[in-house]
Amino acid sequence: MPTLNVLFGSESGNSEKLAQSIERTAKEIVKQAGEAHKFDVAIKNLKDVKVADLTSMEHAVVVISTWGEGDPPGTCKKFCEDLFADKSTDLSKLNYTVFAMGDKSYQIFCGCGKQVDESFSRLGAKAFMARHDSDLDYDAGFEPWEVKMFTKLAPMLK
Ligand SMILES: Cc1cc2nc3c(=O)[nH]c(=O)nc-3n(C[C@H](O)[C@H](O)[C@H](O)COP(=O)(O)O)c2cc1C
Repeated sequence: MPTLNVLFGSESGNSEKLAQSIERTAKEIVKQAGEAHKFDVAIKNLKDVKVADLTSMEHAVVVISTWGEGDPPGTCKKFCEDLFADKSTDLSKLNYTVFAMGDKSYQIFCGCGKQVDESFSRLGAKAFMARHDSDLDYDAGFEPWEVKMFTKLAPMLK
């Protein structure tokens, strides 16, 4: 059975909250579809994930914020530093998208989400949907993004 990995990097909880919403929606899709469409959902804090763990994933949605001046959230700094420096891990089995959280008043808007996207792509992963860069009013854009994301992703989870 396929697994949807919902990966989040969060410092003050916003990205975690959206990741939990994606997990809930995914479970609801499975519940509604019954036997017709079954897949597992695994939600993971990127502070507990290693770059090597990504090689066993086929489907991932990443929600990650930016802190400092374009830096990763402090909680998953190690994961991000390893990922950004990685030149050899093979992520060619991975289909992913990124919901980047930020604030347009900062110079490096959504810098961390952009670097995660670029790193996944450099390591061979394929984006099933273009990255979404979200300003502080993320609630407004999240729901339509989630609908669009599951419309694209659901057929791949069969
Ligand atoms: C001290 C501080 C630094 C920040 N730096 C950036 C930044 O460089 N770029 C950006 O786009 N957003 C920046 N942000 C905005 C956060 O990414 C945004 O508030 C986000 O929703 C936080 O999500 P989280 O709770 O999941 O960590 C910063 C916020 C704070 C409080």
